[in-house]
Amino acid sequence: MRVWVDTDYGFDDLWALLVLRHGGVEVSGISLVAGNAPLPQVLANARGATAHYGFTAPLHAGADRPLKRTAETAQRILGPRGMTSRGAYLPEGDAPLASEDAMAALAGWLITEEAPQVLALGPLTNIARLIQQHPEAAARIRRLVWMGGSAGPGNHSALAEFNALADPEAADMVARAGLPLDVVDLMACRQARFGPAEMPRCEALTGDLLGGYLDIGLSRGRDGMAIYDPVAALALTRPEALEFQPRAMHVSTTPDESYGATTFDATGQGRTRLATGVASNTAHLCLDALKTDD
Ligand code: RIB
Ligand code: CA
Repeated sequence: MRVWVDTDYGFDDLWALLVLRHGGVEVSGISLVAGNAPLPQVLANARGATAHYGFTAPLHAGADRPLKRTAETAQRILGPRGMTSRGAYLPEGDAPLASEDAMAALAGWLITEEAPQVLALGPLTNIARLIQQHPEAAARIRRLVWMGGSAGPGNHSALAEFNALADPEAADMVARAGLPLDVVDLMACRQARFGPAEMPRCEALTGDLLGGYLDIGLSRGRDGMAIYDPVAALALTRPEALEFQPRAMHVSTTPDESYGATTFDATGQGRTRLATGVASNTAHLCLDALKTDD
């Protein structure tokens, strides 16, 4: 299986790429989008991960800002790199950018791929731009899996999940586009949690970055941390782990406390689905992708 990944390259995005590799899924291309950090830092994270983990997917620069709102990052939580650590950080990498126009690159791939699947792990700015600039290519998407939104409380504001809040207009456009959209929201991801006792034996840098990710939860007095982007990747590598049900997604674009909040209802006739069931071993499936080979 081949897939295209659109990402704002935090640690959980990197972890999702390791889940795809662990599951034998080939990544045909990576489009980068501002989100966890500004685009230059997202590119630096992508280059560093490519260098350290030996990823081969070409990197394409996408949107450096949301469609309409002011830029919003997660750096107040994740630090300047958009990625926390208990020690070491990703190295400097020098992987060349395959292009500066990720939407054109993704469109070209969609046109040539027989049954193209896209995994979106950040704000939906690039996907919205694809719909605007290359509608015929966007219409060829066979499946778009997105980690984003929340059918319950948010994580970046009280009501909104980060990827939705970082570009509500893009999420709204994608929700209305009629694409076969599978949403893996916060409520699904919150069913896949891990704590200190579940930390796997992994190579040093991965252990530092995973510990830094876990500390996002522990530092807030919680017993562990929800697993975000890797759960969305499981929809492609272990489809039995997630159950999806048809749900229309509605995104608030009112710039008040509801901005970016998502609601889901079963009345829609569209092709959007929501992950409503999560297997009990989902966290372990995600953690298995980080373990060193014994
Ligand atoms: O809300 C979690 C999502 O926001 C994840 O994709 C994380 O990487 C950030 O992009
Ligand atoms: Ca992400």
